[in-house]
Amino acid sequence: MANPPSHSRVLQPKPKYSNLLIRFIAIFILTLVVLVGIVVIIIWLVVKPKHLDYSVENAAVQNFNLTDANHLYANFDFTIRSYNPNSIVSLYYDKVEIYVSYEDQTLATNAIQPFFQSHKNVTRLQVRVTAQTVSLYGSVPKDLRVEKSSGDIELDLFLRAKIRFKVGRWKSKRHTMSVFCSPVLVNFSRDKSFYRATCEVEM
Ligand SMILES: *[C@@H]1O[C@H](CO)[C@@H](O)[C@H](O)[C@H]1NC(C)=O
Ligand SMILES: *[C@@H]1O[C@H](CO)[C@@H](O)[C@H](O)[C@H]1NC(C)=O
Ligand SMILES: *[C@@H]1O[C@H](CO)[C@@H](O)[C@H](O)[C@H]1NC(C)=O
Repeated sequence: MANPPSHSRVLQPKPKYSNLLIRFIAIFILTLVVLVGIVVIIIWLVVKPKHLDYSVENAAVQNFNLTDANHLYANFDFTIRSYNPNSIVSLYYDKVEIYVSYEDQTLATNAIQPFFQSHKNVTRLQVRVTAQTVSLYGSVPKDLRVEKSSGDIELDLFLRAKIRFKVGRWKSKRHTMSVFCSPVLVNFSRDKSFYRATCEVEM
């Protein structure tokens, strides 16, 4: 008649077993969380968008005409080199605006056709920006005349773009990118000499 105690002894291992199971599941989940975390960090380090590389390879001006009433007509032509140094990240350029300014005045603006840039790609943008009867004020017309007579003028080139990153099938939301190139030397002689201006990129 020693049944009751043996019965209670039989019951005892059961909670021990489920304790072990809970501990095992807990360790398993914890390990999984840590592993997923490590994988996410590694993917981020590999994928993390590197800064884009911009420079101006050529700049020219045509039909420059600064009237006595300080109105400017001119066609500016730029060759902008855009390099995406990322090996996984591609880019959508949804909207690109370009501004040409001298001292603190904007001379001309234009928009660039939206484009897609794959990883490790170099894209050269040929852009014409036209100043049409832009009124110049302050010391700008005088300085521009003086610089022009010296043979070249120093302009600032500013690009503002709405970009999206693409990794595999995933696409990021839109980011604003600013590219600032200064000084961009525009030569009035027709000599095609080597030319390059580097740009600062902010994302
Ligand atoms: C510059 O523009 C003015 C006003 O439109 C015009 O009278 C003049 O002929 C132009 N000069 C040149 C060199 O094109
Ligand atoms: C970069 O992409 C453009 C447009 O897809 C293409 O025309 C060009 O050849 C590519 N350049 C390089 C270096 O891959
Ligand atoms: C601009 O043109 C002048 C005249 O041909 C030349 O002497 C000068 O080196 C050129 N400047 C640049 C930066 O190309």
